[in-house]
Parts: sequence; C-alpha cells; structure tokens
Amino acid sequence: MESTGTTMSYGLLRYVRPELLRMAHYEPVEPVEVAAARLGIPPERIVKLDGNENLYGPSPRALAALAALHPLHGYNIYPDPDQLRVRAALAEYTGAAPDCIVAGAGSDELIDLLARALLAPGDHVIDLVPTFGMYVFTAAVCGGAYVPVPRHDDFSVDVPAVEAAVDERTKLIFVASPNNPSGNLLPREDLDRLLALGVPVVVDEAYIEFSGGSVVPLVADRDNLIVIRTFSKWAGLAGLRAGYGVMPRPLADLLMAIKPPYNINVAAEAAIVASLEDRELLLERVARIVAERERLSALLASVPFLRPRPSAANFILCDVTAGDAGLLRDALRAQGIFTRYFGRDGLRDKIRISVGLPEHSDRLLATLHAMGEAPRELGQSR
Ligand SMILES: Cc1ncc(COP(=O)(O)O)c(C=O)c1O
Repeated sequence: MESTGTTMSYGLLRYVRPELLRMAHYEPVEPVEVAAARLGIPPERIVKLDGNENLYGPSPRALAALAALHPLHGYNIYPDPDQLRVRAALAEYTGAAPDCIVAGAGSDELIDLLARALLAPGDHVIDLVPTFGMYVFTAAVCGGAYVPVPRHDDFSVDVPAVEAAVDERTKLIFVASPNNPSGNLLPREDLDRLLALGVPVVVDEAYIEFSGGSVVPLVADRDNLIVIRTFSKWAGLAGLRAGYGVMPRPLADLLMAIKPPYNINVAAEAAIVASLEDRELLLERVARIVAERERLSALLASVPFLRPRPSAANFILCDVTAGDAGLLRDALRAQGIFTRYFGRDGLRDKIRISVGLPEHSDRLLATLHAMGEAPRELGQSR
C-alpha cells in the first residue's frame, strides 16, 4: 500500500495518457509581482514589455461595468451558457452572424475547443513555425501529431511546403496573422492557397486591430475558414480572459455544445459588452500604440546591436546582431525591463519587445544605450 502523497501520485500517473507525461510544457510569462520579488525590484519600477499586453489598461466603460456588477444579481449567479448578449455584441462588431460566433476564456480556449472538436489521437496539426506556442501545446494535450512547417527567413509562410505536408491525416492548420512573434501578416493569396487545400484553417487574428485587414468577412463564403480573436490585446482585458471565434455555423453549433457551459464568466461578459460600446476610445488607444510602435522601431534601429523587423502588431521582433539575445533579455530584466526571448529554432538570436507607453520606450532605449554593447557572457551588463 502506498503511503506518501508522492508515491501515491506516481501510482496515479500510471493511468495518465503517456504522451502527456512526455510533452513539453507551455512557457507562460511570469507575473510581475513574482518576478519583482525575485529580482528585488519594486513592482512599480517594472517595465513590462514581455506579454504583448495593452499598458493603457481596459476601457473606462469596461471598468465601470465591472464595478457596477451587482453582488447579488451578478457574481453569485451563473452566466448565460448561450452567450446571447456577448454573441449579439460581437456580431455587431465583426459583421458576422451571431450563430457563427463562439466566445471563450481568451482565444486560448477557442484553440483548445477547436482541437478537442477536430482532433482524434494521431491526427495531424500543421503549425507554421516559429509562431505562438499554444498551437503545439494544445495539439499535444489533445493527442494530435504535430507537423511543424518552418517559415521563410522573413517569416512568410512557405505555402508549397504546407501543400506538400497536407494529407488525409491533416485536421487543422493554424496560422497567426499578424504572426507572433514576427509581426507579419498573411497575404490574401497565401490564405487562398491554404483554404484551397480543403482542411480546416484557423486564422488567429489576436493582433488584427493593430493592422486592419481582418478576414472575418470571408468566413460566410468558406466552409473551412475559422477566425479567432481576442480582447486581450486591443481592449486591454488579458487578465479577464475574453476571446471568440467566427466560423461556419455547423462548427459553431458543435463548439457551443461541447464547451464548458459557463465558460464566459459574468465579469468577462460585462467587460466585453462595455468595451465594444467604448470602441472609439479603445481604437484611439490602438492608434497611439501603432504610432508608438513606429517611433520605438526607429529608436531601436539606432541601437548598434539591434535590428528591428517590421511589425503589424503591438510588438517588435529584433535581431540581436552582436552579443547573445538571451543574455540581453537577462541584462534588461535585471534593470526591471521585461522582454521576451524564446531560444527556439529561428528565434535564438532575437528578442521580442512589446509596445508600451512612450515613457516605457524611452526607459528601454536609455538602458540599451547605457549598455553600449549586447552582453556576450554570463554576468556582463548585470
Ligand atoms: C497569436 C496569439 N493568439 C492568441 C493569443 C492568446 O490570446 P488570449 O489572451 O485571448 O488567450 C496570443 C497571446 O499572446 C497570441 O499571441
């Protein structure tokens, strides 16, 4: 008889799907308070440019709607499993039919629901790497067989390679547009070729408000196009978890049937509706972030060891042309400036910098210039 918790859990793990025990874990960004305590820096001194969040915060109307949630006719009552108010508001915003929309706890939940709906163990998932890490993670959790197709050096999609990789086992192609972490859009002709393959294509438009050019209007005419979007970036609601997908009606009906019934909580519901009512203000902030992206890009180009790539999103991927990109991330972090380093194929010599407020860009630039050069060895520039 096993007696300790640890040996007990080893016993239980014998019943777990073995591929889950082998899978690589998702690497989320560290919460500010945790990182600040570890580094011994006051949280208010941290410049958080590692999560592509919106540093302007939620809209005032969303904050007011949250504050106005009635304690006894709000938080203690289950939310609407049919998402009627949210789907109607999203239909008005996107121009899609409400029945073609499914809301979730972030677009992460839509990725999860789509994988659960479409993948049987061993089915192939095509991922256009380097890209957002949730696609490989979710494919692994659902037992899918992961088929990475590398992008070109400029991060455009290698469409002929995708065409060669698709076969009767392919159940999903994920393509982020703008892509994270490279910031480039998928050209319409590439999308048309992917759609012509006939398998479900998920276009992840998490950053589309920063670029324009959504392909949501195409969903009505295609039976294999799914578009997922989020309130985390443009609407400043990353902490509340609010996302949605637009897809052909039969698939939307299925996702509504298999999702956890109360997946959109009452606070997210209130904040989504209020944010859409406050879209003018939010989109004005988006315009400010886009302007700041261009200013920051020009500033980064003046740093001798960085080469910023063009971006259509709220972040900039930079080649670190001298020194070590991972150590540069560490050196900035030690000064309270958080950026993202991935250390994966195609990204080892790069860091991704989210666009914050102008004062964040200025502090980042002053720190980079004070360094003189990118660190080459552990301990340098700390
Ligand atoms: C391309 C892409 N898709 C989806 C997400 C997840 O968004 P959400 O917060 O809605 O789950 C992110 C978050 O960084 C992302 O970069």
